[in-house]
Amino acid sequence: MLIHNKAINKVHHKRKFSSYHKARNAWQAIIEAHRNKYPQATVVLPAYIGWSQYDGSGIFDPVSNLTAKYVFYGLDKKLTIDFDNLKQVVTNCSNPIVLLAHYFGFPDPNYHEITSWLDENDIYYIEDSAHAMYSDVIGGSCGRKGAYNIYSLHKMLPFDDGGILVDNQINSLEIADEHYLNIQDVLSYDLKTIYDIRIKNYLFLVGQLKDIKGTTLLYPELNQGVCPQSLPIVLDDYNRDDIYFKMNKQGFGLVSLYHTMIDALKDSTFESASYTSKKIINLPIHQECSFEILTTMADCFKNTLAS
Ligand SMILES: Cc1ncc(COP(=O)(O)O)c(C=O)c1O
Repeated sequence: MLIHNKAINKVHHKRKFSSYHKARNAWQAIIEAHRNKYPQATVVLPAYIGWSQYDGSGIFDPVSNLTAKYVFYGLDKKLTIDFDNLKQVVTNCSNPIVLLAHYFGFPDPNYHEITSWLDENDIYYIEDSAHAMYSDVIGGSCGRKGAYNIYSLHKMLPFDDGGILVDNQINSLEIADEHYLNIQDVLSYDLKTIYDIRIKNYLFLVGQLKDIKGTTLLYPELNQGVCPQSLPIVLDDYNRDDIYFKMNKQGFGLVSLYHTMIDALKDSTFESASYTSKKIINLPIHQECSFEILTTMADCFKNTLAS
């Protein structure tokens, strides 16, 4: 046959999904499997990793649980990867396993250049789509280049927990599935509609919050295929913690991702850790927000800043 009347290749474009209690369990399983193969492996992490009393550190706990060797690469104020620094760090360490985190659903502006360089240099890397499940599954703007990709379901859907490991079948390791949930639990939500609502809400809220003196929107524009987890804004000239408490007291569930850096980044000079983590606040734009409530929240936010 020159062409069959239907697709018959069972391997082409296949991504294997397995499920875990949380995304961090999947991430730990990857590091462990990689280290089994390369005992000298070094985990190469972004210099923007938070910790909280309640939740620990989703990115770093797996590294410390395994007492794995690690090193950080730099990010600037806008959480853009310092590509030269990444190259330098990766080149200087043994059997690197690099984590690329798509913070708040946004792949790095140089995502294609960075992943191409990693591919050309045969570097093992993982995509952290804990915040970027919709940017991957529906938008297709990230998640397909790393050997693995992880989702955190409780950040995207009304779940208490749940993590998914996507094996892109590029360079697979021996990793056991925790069988924590059925993928149909995820697919029973209308992911495309949620994707559209989040994008519409984000753009609407950007319209309300742009040009507030003393603040910087981390991502004033939304590229094709990017679906945000929240709207991060840097409060350059304000006391972030004060605004956080006042907004929550008035009924608006803002968060500060990540307000406290892990100990290993406390004295980091990378701007992501030394500046952004102290100034960032994230506003909700999720599927349960209407334009009406977003307008009320934006007004309250501006009044709180002015007070
Ligand atoms: C960027 C990022 N990656 C991974 C994780 C881990 O997610 P989970 O809470 O599902 O373990 C988190 C959250 O802690 C995160 O913010």
